[in-house]
Amino acid sequence: MTRRLEAALQRRTLDRPPVWIMRQAGRYLPEYRQLRERHTFQEAVSTPEVASAITLQPIHRFALDGAVIFADIMTPLEAMGVDMTFDPGPRLRPHTLDEVASLPDLDVDRVGFVEETIRRVRDQAPAHVSVIGFAGAPLTLLAYLVQGGGSKDFMHFRGALRSDPLAAAAALDRLSSAMATYLAFQAAAGADVVQLFDSWAGLLDRRSFSTLAVPAAERSLSGVDVPTIYFAPGAGHTLELQPSVGATAYGVDWRIPIDEAWDRLGDVAIQGNIDPAVLLGDPEAIRSEVVDLLDRVGGRPGHIVNLGHGIDRRTPPENVQVLIEAIVASG
Ligand code: CP3
Repeated sequence: MTRRLEAALQRRTLDRPPVWIMRQAGRYLPEYRQLRERHTFQEAVSTPEVASAITLQPIHRFALDGAVIFADIMTPLEAMGVDMTFDPGPRLRPHTLDEVASLPDLDVDRVGFVEETIRRVRDQAPAHVSVIGFAGAPLTLLAYLVQGGGSKDFMHFRGALRSDPLAAAAALDRLSSAMATYLAFQAAAGADVVQLFDSWAGLLDRRSFSTLAVPAAERSLSGVDVPTIYFAPGAGHTLELQPSVGATAYGVDWRIPIDEAWDRLGDVAIQGNIDPAVLLGDPEAIRSEVVDLLDRVGGRPGHIVNLGHGIDRRTPPENVQVLIEAIVASG
């Protein structure tokens, strides 16, 4: 049996597109918030019993086609010796580019809990659900490492990139080989698909995007033998450049209509792109967004329904139900 999500990645013709939601395992679910009362975020991630239960929470509620493993893009960096806290986003000491370039390689024994979580999820999820592993793209990880946490414009990080392009390339190389190891490790553990999150690459101009972000993402995905998805939100100005990453599919945010984004990406599979804000509205508006999205796709094979970014924590779970039901009913 080929699972629906993987069939879409092979661009097979389907009765309806597969659907999953970025951040589907998280704070909009009361059962997640309840578990988090008893465990810190890092404890939950590093305890396979808890992380697998959280991964499966949305699968029990909704007819989703994918289960995304509960962890964070920063998790493998902790295993490379980088100390951090979550509040709720990552906070760490700002690193220089040279410090990043000399981080040790990822020792997969230090992320054994991720392997165990993937095993448990693959074991416990229904057979038709694809298990989705993920990593942060090197450019995005470097942004957090150099900046020391989240930021609106990552100005300190962008200044560092501009002032020492050679050191930036060395730091990106270090992270690329670590993420290549990490993604292959997740595939070997049982992830059916992996996604590379390049959340901040959209801050770059086109030239830096193609010289820094693209080759680093490409190297991260190069040794992975399962289908891959590359997602750079807020990067509509780079759509023509993205296929050089060599992923199976590309995630697109809500800012550009999906048919236009697809024309600009070319001959690849696509994922997206409902505005997460739609899920804060009423059921009629949600259904009409689904109709509009599916109209624009027009049945072209190779589409995975998702939001154009992570689900907002204020989203009523009933609205997710409305979205999924509308997709399922389209088949
Ligand atoms: O359901 C899933 O998608 C799986 C788990 C997942 C998390 N983070 C759990 C999490 C995934 C895929 C991520 C990716 C991630 N983490 C990204 C890329 C996606 C994006 O939003 O662009 C980024 C940039 C991060 C870094 C990060 N970690 C931030 C900015 C935050 C805080 C803000 C937020 O969105 O919640 C985190 C913490 C985090 N990671 C939480 C969760 C569920 C919240 C922890 C909590 O308070 O319970």
